[in-house]
Amino acid sequence: MYRTHDNDLGLLYVKNQDKYTFNLDEVRDPNVKYPNQKKNGKIKVNLKGKNPTDVWQFPKVTSGKNRASKERTPHPAQFPVAVVDRIIKSASKVNDIVLDPFMGSGTTAIVALGLQRQVIGFEIRADYCEIVANRIDDFLRNQELTEAQLSLF
Ligand SMILES: C[S@@+](CC[C@H](N)C(=O)[O-])C[C@H]1O[C@@H](n2cnc3c(N)ncnc32)[C@H](O)[C@@H]1O
Repeated sequence: MYRTHDNDLGLLYVKNQDKYTFNLDEVRDPNVKYPNQKKNGKIKVNLKGKNPTDVWQFPKVTSGKNRASKERTPHPAQFPVAVVDRIIKSASKVNDIVLDPFMGSGTTAIVALGLQRQVIGFEIRADYCEIVANRIDDFLRNQELTEAQLSLF
């Protein structure tokens, strides 16, 4: 039997059940099967898309000479940016602090910074810390370039 997918389990914990952040509109799935379905003459579905189901499918970060993902770093267990993006968008607000106690290649850090969150992180291996530092440097450099280009218009 071939192993075709890698799976990870995600759990959402909240400190206060009556008051927590969950920005559903930020992460709605726009692929609605019948987007124009109506009830009593009114469009029935949310125009921003549907609530994502419990099973999320994203392409994994691949390695290899001709098939490596663009976001690939030398870290062996890197998370896809798209997965972390959905988690941070749904579970935090702008300026919130995002904590990643197992930074690996720093995916959480660059996604959080890109979404205007603050980041605190830990990584036990010095060589991986270097990957994180380089990745954050690259990210900030690209962000500065993009801002400079935008300010030209
Ligand atoms: C699955 S990787 C994280 C991958 C990360 N999400 C990414 O996208 O790159 C887990 C990381 O936790 C680190 N780690 C394991 N035990 C740790 C500890 N006690 N403190 C800090 N980091 C630790 C490992 O070195 C490894 O890089």
